Amino acid sequence: MIHNVDYSDLKKFHKILYERSGLYFGESRFEFLKIKLLKRMEYIKNNNIENYFNLINRDREEFQNLLNEMTINETYFFRELNYLETYLDKIFSKQIKDKQNIKIISSACSSGEEPYSLAILIKEKYPYINNRIEIIGIDIDSSMIDRAKKGEYREFSLRVTPKNIIDKYFNKENNHYIIASEIKNMLKFYKMNILDEQFKGLIEDSELILSRNVLIYFDSESKKKALDIYYNGLSNNGILMLGKSESIFSVNNKFKIVHYPQVIFYKKEEKKND
Ligand SMILES: C[S@@+](CC[C@H](N)C(=O)[O-])C[C@H]1O[C@@H](n2cnc3c(N)ncnc32)[C@H](O)[C@@H]1O
Repeated sequence: MIHNVDYSDLKKFHKILYERSGLYFGESRFEFLKIKLLKRMEYIKNNNIENYFNLINRDREEFQNLLNEMTINETYFFRELNYLETYLDKIFSKQIKDKQNIKIISSACSSGEEPYSLAILIKEKYPYINNRIEIIGIDIDSSMIDRAKKGEYREFSLRVTPKNIIDKYFNKENNHYIIASEIKNMLKFYKMNILDEQFKGLIEDSELILSRNVLIYFDSESKKKALDIYYNGLSNNGILMLGKSESIFSVNNKFKIVHYPQVIFYKKEEKKND
């Protein structure tokens, strides 16, 4: 029987998660926090909340395990496809004329479906471009990054993927679909927090940052921090792509908003000093 988890316990966990990872589990999400804490405690057979709190304070591995439990990793191939296609048709097509090398960041890529989808679309449109494109996926959840590196997916991840794309870019083994090595070789994956110093170095001079369906889990202070990091990391005229239900309104006014039918991008446009 697990020791009862009360409001003051949840406040302590909220604080440590926020301070050490930026993940925000404020009062409106305390119920979710409690469910996940209890699930993790049951798994490691620890039934005392104070004891568990001390454990995550001293044991980095258990802290990461708890973080992995807390993240919402929902993703699938070709999610919000019109955003990816609009980027390729309207922006990427110009960027490859202007730049020799293009760096693309999938920030909070979960198990990799998002950056792999973009790599497939690029390969379809520009079959000979590989060595000029660097696509990097990062996520705070180590188990998701392990899955991304493995590149093996269940049918559910491919639920909106056209059959001809599945046939061309995946090898089916038993119930798994394994991403083709020509696509896998276009990507690198790292376990990383968007708010870490390390991330700032990694994204320097990128032409596109995808940050879809992650800032919704941040409080406004962390969201502001992340947007500043993205802004500084992008090269001039670089693009930030958010999820379709997200906006930066009232948090950051440095980006220029670029509209296309059903799609909005955020552009870094530095003024020239004459
Ligand atoms: C809902 S998924 C989004 C996946 C993908 N971008 C998409 O739109 O399909 C959100 C991901 O954000 C990750 N995440 C949350 N906070 C993060 C942080 N501070 N740094 C890096 N990744 C984070 C979670 O681990 C999770 O995999």
